[in-house]
Amino acid sequence: MSSNQLAISDSLIFYVNGKKIVEKNADPETTLLTYLRNNLRLTGSKLGCGEGGCGACTVMISKWDGRNGKPRHFAVNACLAPLVSVNKCAVTTVEGIGSTKTKLHEIQERLAKFHGSQCGFCTPGIVMSMYALLRNKQIPSLKDIDTCMQGNLCRCTGYRPIIAGFETFTCAMGKNCCKIDKKIKPTEQQIEAEHTDTKWQAYDDSQEPIFPPELMLSGKLKSSFRSLKYVGENVTWHQPTNLQQLLLLKNEHPEAKIVVGNTEVGIEMHIKGRNYSQIISPTNVKELNCMEEIDEGVSIGAACSLSDVEQFLKSVSKKRRKQETQVICSILEMLELFAGMQIRNVACIGGNIMTASPISDLNPILLAVGAKLTFASSSSGLREIQMDENFFIGYRKTNTRKDEILISIKIPFLTEDDVMKAFKQSKRKEDDIAIVNSAMHVAFEPGTKTIKKLSIAFGGMAAITNAAKQTMKRVVGRSWDERLLHDVCSWLNEEMKLSLDAPGGMVRYRRALVTSFFFKFYHYTLEALLENGVVQVENINISREIIGDLTAENEQFTSTQTWQEVPEDQDTYDTIGRPIPHLSGLKQVTGEAQYIDDIPPYREELHMVLVYSTRAHAKIINVDPTPALEYTGVVSFVDKNDVIGKNDLGMYGEVFADGKVSCVGHVIGAIVADTQAHAIKASRMVKITYEDILPRIITIDDAILHNSFSSTIKLNKGNAEEEFKNCDNVIEDEARVGGQEHFYMETQCCIAIPKNEDGEMEVFSSCQHPTGLQSMAATCLGVQRNKVTVRTKRLGGGFGGKESRFGVISNPAVTAARKLGKPIRCVLTRQEDMQITGGRHPFLAKYKIGFDNDGRIKALKIDLYSNGGNSDDLSYGVMTRAVTHADNCYNVPHMEVTGRICRTNIASNTAFRGFGGPQSMIISESWITKVAETLNMDPEMVRAFNMYTDGDKVLHGSILKQFKAKRCWEECLDKSNFHNTQKEIREFNKTSRWKKRGIACIPSKYSVGFGLKHLNQGCALVLIYTDGTVLLSHGGTEMGQGLDTKMVQVASRSLGVPIDIIHISECSTSSVPNASPTAASTSSDINGMAIKEACDKIMSRLQPLRKSHPNITWVELINKAYMERISLSATGFYRTPGLTDEWNHKTGTVSGDMFSYLAYGAAVSQVEIDVLTGHHVVLKTDLVVDVGNSLNPAIDVGQIEGAFAQGYGLVTLEEMLHSPSGHLWTVGPGAYKIPGFANTPKHFNVHLLRSCPNEKAIYSSKAVGEPPLFLASSVLYAIKDAIKSARVDAGMTGAFRLDSPATAERIRLACEDDFVRKAKPTEDENGLQAWAVRA
Ligand SMILES: Cc1cc2nc3c(=O)[nH]c(=O)nc-3n(C[C@H](O)[C@H](O)[C@H](O)COP(=O)(O)OP(=O)(O)OC[C@H]3O[C@@H](n4cnc5c(N)ncnc54)[C@H](O)[C@@H]3O)c2cc1C
Ligand code: FES
Ligand code: FES
Repeated sequence: MSSNQLAISDSLIFYVNGKKIVEKNADPETTLLTYLRNNLRLTGSKLGCGEGGCGACTVMISKWDGRNGKPRHFAVNACLAPLVSVNKCAVTTVEGIGSTKTKLHEIQERLAKFHGSQCGFCTPGIVMSMYALLRNKQIPSLKDIDTCMQGNLCRCTGYRPIIAGFETFTCAMGKNCCKIDKKIKPTEQQIEAEHTDTKWQAYDDSQEPIFPPELMLSGKLKSSFRSLKYVGENVTWHQPTNLQQLLLLKNEHPEAKIVVGNTEVGIEMHIKGRNYSQIISPTNVKELNCMEEIDEGVSIGAACSLSDVEQFLKSVSKKRRKQETQVICSILEMLELFAGMQIRNVACIGGNIMTASPISDLNPILLAVGAKLTFASSSSGLREIQMDENFFIGYRKTNTRKDEILISIKIPFLTEDDVMKAFKQSKRKEDDIAIVNSAMHVAFEPGTKTIKKLSIAFGGMAAITNAAKQTMKRVVGRSWDERLLHDVCSWLNEEMKLSLDAPGGMVRYRRALVTSFFFKFYHYTLEALLENGVVQVENINISREIIGDLTAENEQFTSTQTWQEVPEDQDTYDTIGRPIPHLSGLKQVTGEAQYIDDIPPYREELHMVLVYSTRAHAKIINVDPTPALEYTGVVSFVDKNDVIGKNDLGMYGEVFADGKVSCVGHVIGAIVADTQAHAIKASRMVKITYEDILPRIITIDDAILHNSFSSTIKLNKGNAEEEFKNCDNVIEDEARVGGQEHFYMETQCCIAIPKNEDGEMEVFSSCQHPTGLQSMAATCLGVQRNKVTVRTKRLGGGFGGKESRFGVISNPAVTAARKLGKPIRCVLTRQEDMQITGGRHPFLAKYKIGFDNDGRIKALKIDLYSNGGNSDDLSYGVMTRAVTHADNCYNVPHMEVTGRICRTNIASNTAFRGFGGPQSMIISESWITKVAETLNMDPEMVRAFNMYTDGDKVLHGSILKQFKAKRCWEECLDKSNFHNTQKEIREFNKTSRWKKRGIACIPSKYSVGFGLKHLNQGCALVLIYTDGTVLLSHGGTEMGQGLDTKMVQVASRSLGVPIDIIHISECSTSSVPNASPTAASTSSDINGMAIKEACDKIMSRLQPLRKSHPNITWVELINKAYMERISLSATGFYRTPGLTDEWNHKTGTVSGDMFSYLAYGAAVSQVEIDVLTGHHVVLKTDLVVDVGNSLNPAIDVGQIEGAFAQGYGLVTLEEMLHSPSGHLWTVGPGAYKIPGFANTPKHFNVHLLRSCPNEKAIYSSKAVGEPPLFLASSVLYAIKDAIKSARVDAGMTGAFRLDSPATAERIRLACEDDFVRKAKPTEDENGLQAWAVRA
């Protein structure tokens, strides 16, 4: 039968949330997510990345499983799943499991009550991952939950409350759960957090919807399996039902892609812009989907999903002897580290092999054991080959023919004379691709330790998975002993070379990993030989700590949160100080909360996609949009010529580039089309000709070299230069803190709607500063500001990234909307967002420090440099905060700080939680540690010794009145049992050479308020309706931080009414004018005070009525007021009193208080590192944080944990790397790693400082959003402490440098043992340019 005879079906039949869908025009290019969101308007599932890396799009698929005679439920990433792949499946989305209008699902209820959502953008995906787990296992273990959450990210919460909420499902006791009866008595006015009195039912899946009978029936009937073909705009999808059809199709379309999970091909098409016109899906072909045990091992069909492979291999490993299943166990271990659950549920083993990625996790194993691969083609039939050094022939190329299809893989059993182990090192342990991976297999002459054969395969060391052929040959016949170890390490060093410019970078680290892995394998094999009785324990030098995981890794997660209870006599309606959940929580967990891109399309709405520069610094010679304009659905190309107002927005850069580009990502124009997909494709067709301009300045060092600075700011206290003369020691050094990507889960987006009258424009935006957007839009449109209305309901996270950089899309969008007279929607893809919008400023500090032998620091001069990127944006403000925070908690009597902002050719950096403060505070801990190391003292002693006390004058001139950092510090030392733990760690390190532990305690002082005096003002509008309900508007935006919840609490207390009659609809420039950005942690302070003022005004108007009618209800009171014509609305305004702006940035002198008050905290973190790989785990973190009298302790704890997690990312995992020519390499969650669930400290305790009211802010509270972020640097310095011990063991004492972030690479290299020393680049590499630079 020729493939032409295949049955053709244009109807795709599937179910969504129990409803049957028949789609007659299913396009293979459409993803399930796009269809759910756009066609079915089920917008609960979110688009966070489009590349399977964040889990925001997670839905559950149920499919009839003929083998087991029941449906199989599994979570998938709807952003990668092709719509046509769900034929005959049931899809469940977050909307399908519960709703606020009907009934919440238990997952949704528990997550909301445990405060597990903040901005809520990640939440539906997290709910659905958990849902899929529960559908498979009613009572999961904590390990099951950890595994199922590997593919989900949250940028707000710090994960702890999510884990705590889901932990309730691990208990089988239901009503008898120990948590229910356990009432913890408040002690010293503290209460244990969490819902100890909440009654949770055991989860019962009998309430869940049944699998659609129609699908069950058709799953059972073989006759219902038909070959399918879906023909779309550009792509045809074939789905044959037997091998013959499959081979014929491949013969007919040799270029066709075989697609199973689409986790490779989907990325190639949607992210990399590749076009494949023919796709063949083999998911219904039996031969590719079966798994069986055979004599020599197991045979696995190439299209079997990795999750199915895992289940099957687990069942085999249970039945067989340990030695036999060594390969199987290596694969199982590797699968635990392979992507996230959603990917493993769909990605197939054949796809991993045939993609031939040099960092494939399975290929090194299959190569090391010589797995057999069966291929078939219609022309040559079947052929079996062994995977060996000849199989991979180039980057993503295999030694197979185009028409061949991989049918199955045979994985061998091993014997007791074999030893096998696989290794993987990545930036983040979970859900990350390998930096280097390896599989090693040694076969011994029977019963001996004489090597018969050694196979070593590496991934990440070349363009292909490759074997260490020379080394492998040389060892045959050798005995497994120390000499062999020594020889193999030096041969591997010779053989596994990488040149300095090798793609992927980290050259020295990768080379050190090669020998470090072998060192581990050597000891692992010794242990196996010992177990087999081949060697005796007294004859070998075995070190088990080399082999195993970090011991901390297996610790069970625990956490506590404590805060001060509200006074007993506080009214029950009054929620101030109570841990009430986020008011949007229930809408977020059900997917009902609406974000910008969830707004239904407007009539005639068009989509805009930016066209941006691919050069860092160049003249634009020509822009030719013609090919793009001819593409389907394209309406227009918009550029500088369409801006009728101002194109140059000063500090915020240009709307569109004008003649010149100054960074990769500089917006040149925009394509407007009928769909986003069309606009994306067309945007790639715009032809731009450039002429490079030199120099191209990418890094801070480049800027220093070329003297490229935009501004300089000074701050002075005393006379440092003079004081150096009086110091016992004066040393100089440098410290660096890397940049950071915001990675808010909702990318920047807006909808601009032009109005017919008076040039009015309405903009819905996910911005932190509606007034700023209004001002920029009016300027580029050339209209008065009163014509532009900006509306923001909520953001899916902002963290500073949406404080000003929203302009990158809102300015082009309003320009296009004006030009075309149509609503314009622009939603950046994750990749565009990361490339274009900039992040946290990287910092370099050069400092000179003078101190006495007792540790007293007397003088300090610091030159701070920040990489501002290609426009001013907020860099000046960021540097002022950095300069003012350069002392952290330390009283250095003579201090001179100079901040210089580097103008470079990277995307403009901008505000990011902490606004420059964390960078300079991390640097302060660097010089404190340097002093301690130089004097051979404990850093904590030097910290305590130099800490401020009340009455001291801080660097920015304020006199300390209630300096609580010391109290936080002492409580933190006490609660963490610091001194005993430190002793235990020292003992541990004495006997452990390759696993080290470290501990650090860090204090913090953070000045609250905007550095610019005029921004410290808040505004609110309170409206009361005659039914007694209250509508509140204020100048802040809700971005997950719980601002609206707190503001409702404030209004509730001020008006004396319960919170459930108060509502906030949105933040709009038409209700509150000239609002400051929601930033600087000060929004609760300024808007809260403004709300209180407005409420107080109304209450004083009501006062006479209340006096004469003391017993009427609130509604009656309001009605009476209305009848008596008393105004029921009021505006409130607040300006922070007592601030100065008398800081001379040139001389560095200040007079008065720049900030309203200071917020304090302290943190103790303990870590464990694997010296051989650089991997680390945070064992325990204790935080004590001063938030004054908390307005809402649950929200404040959430902010602290979330800030800590983000700070932890800053100082460990998150590293932005640019190419030397200015492209950001680390784009998307695949390349840029934010902390995941598994990065939460194993024991995570947060304590709010008690009895510390703050008279300067609303209801005695304090700011909380930014200050705790810096406390994560306790992890950085704990890591440094651990490294110090490793260095001592390697023969090195004294000070050493550890810049932030302490990535696995930095940790490994800082340990500087022989493996690292021998991995040094050779001399002939001088002059080569590294693949990546750190801006
Ligand atoms: C978020 C994410 C995380 C990831 N993490 C990891 C990781 O940790 N480790 C890792 O190794 N990989 C990882 N990957 C890569 C990818 O998931 C794997 O390579 C996966 O196994 C590919 O399978 P698939 O079914 O999705 O392939 P598809 O995208 O469906 O196909 C991939 C390629 O294989 C070819 N192919 C598939 N089957 C056959 C066949 N039978 N015969 C011939 N050619 C065939 C296709 O033509 C195509 O070129 C990750 C990918 C993503 C998106
Ligand atoms: S949007 Fe699908 S995984 Fe991120
Ligand atoms: S709540 Fe998870 S990303 Fe915001």
